[in-house]
Amino acid sequence: MAFDLKQIREEFPLLSRSVYGKPLVYLDNAATAQKPRVVIETIDRLYREDNANIHRGVHRLSERCTELYEEARMRVARLLGTEDRGEIVFTAGATAAINLVASSYGEMAVREGDNVVVSEMEHHSNIVPWQLLCERKGAEVRVLPFDDEGRLMVEKLPELIDERTRIVAVTQASNVLGSMPDMVDIVRIAHSKNVPVMVDGCQGVVHSVVDVKSLDCDFYAFSSHKLYGPTGVGVLYGKREWLEKMPPYMGGGDMVGRVSFAGTTYAELPLKFEAGTANYIDAIGFGEAVKWLEGFDREEFVAWENELRMAAEERLSEIEGVTIYGRTENKCSIVSFNIEGVHNYDLGMILDKLGIAVRTGAHCADPVMDHYGIRGTCRASFAFYNTMDEVDALVSGVCRAMQMLK
Ligand code: ALA
Repeated sequence: MAFDLKQIREEFPLLSRSVYGKPLVYLDNAATAQKPRVVIETIDRLYREDNANIHRGVHRLSERCTELYEEARMRVARLLGTEDRGEIVFTAGATAAINLVASSYGEMAVREGDNVVVSEMEHHSNIVPWQLLCERKGAEVRVLPFDDEGRLMVEKLPELIDERTRIVAVTQASNVLGSMPDMVDIVRIAHSKNVPVMVDGCQGVVHSVVDVKSLDCDFYAFSSHKLYGPTGVGVLYGKREWLEKMPPYMGGGDMVGRVSFAGTTYAELPLKFEAGTANYIDAIGFGEAVKWLEGFDREEFVAWENELRMAAEERLSEIEGVTIYGRTENKCSIVSFNIEGVHNYDLGMILDKLGIAVRTGAHCADPVMDHYGIRGTCRASFAFYNTMDEVDALVSGVCRAMQMLK
């Protein structure tokens, strides 16, 4: 490992707490990640010293918050590989970002008889907005399947796309299986048929270094809180040519040029899609998280997360009765598993009593559960601040739970 793990852990105050008198082993990072001190302190300082509504006042505090908010936007832009601030829309979260595209792009592009392609391994937030759109429009949702190893069957994409396909919406990394489909290939296939691609980057942006320009995707959505920033903020990247054409999603203050009863004009990008008072405090906090990450080689973080994941997979698969879901070569640091004869909630509850936080259940991905004919899994998800000792704790916790439950 090329970085100082002990020093990094000290930057995350929550990691040193205990639960039921045991040191916390936090392995629920795919649900939300912990925050570095600088994010917590920035938010505290903003409310104590700088808070004023953005884009509205000529007074000093409003100007200061506006400056910081727009700086945060540019940090996020560079994180994703664009220099165009108009292509970065702050939203309330990844779900809001996907709903924005499904509603606004969908309103513009989808007609009765059209279709939308989503994958079988999507989180509900990249399924339901498309279903709602298709129900409204009389369009069809088509499903790109994955195989039992958890590999998205991208080779089937060409046969799903026809001249009525209006968008392909796919995750960059499954939040259950960890699988990372070949996005470049997906974009290439879709674009060869003039179909835009929406990427759910919630897990992907955390576990890879993203460049939307070389990926050439049309839309990319993710949330701040999984990338070490605050909750309540998400990001939509959209190619300028799409965002220019799309109608506003929500109407209100800040997204308008001039309002009159004879007709209203809209603000330039990105404000056209940022109606109402933005969550500027948390967006600025997120900018600090991105700045903090810029101080490291993120490829090293990803390599360490994968070492942890592979060690956990290897050790868990040695335990009799353990099934791991998602065995593809290209995957991120998510390990979903079940133990024969043990309910995932029972396992999760015993691990919790040992201080180990994992997620249980269907992970907002019912179609993945249906694929395997199961109701849920136990999921350990690793961040760069996790340690090999925590992998050991997980494996011994699972063994202990098995003794108690079987
Ligand atoms: N989407 C988040 C998860 O996978 C909440 O846990």
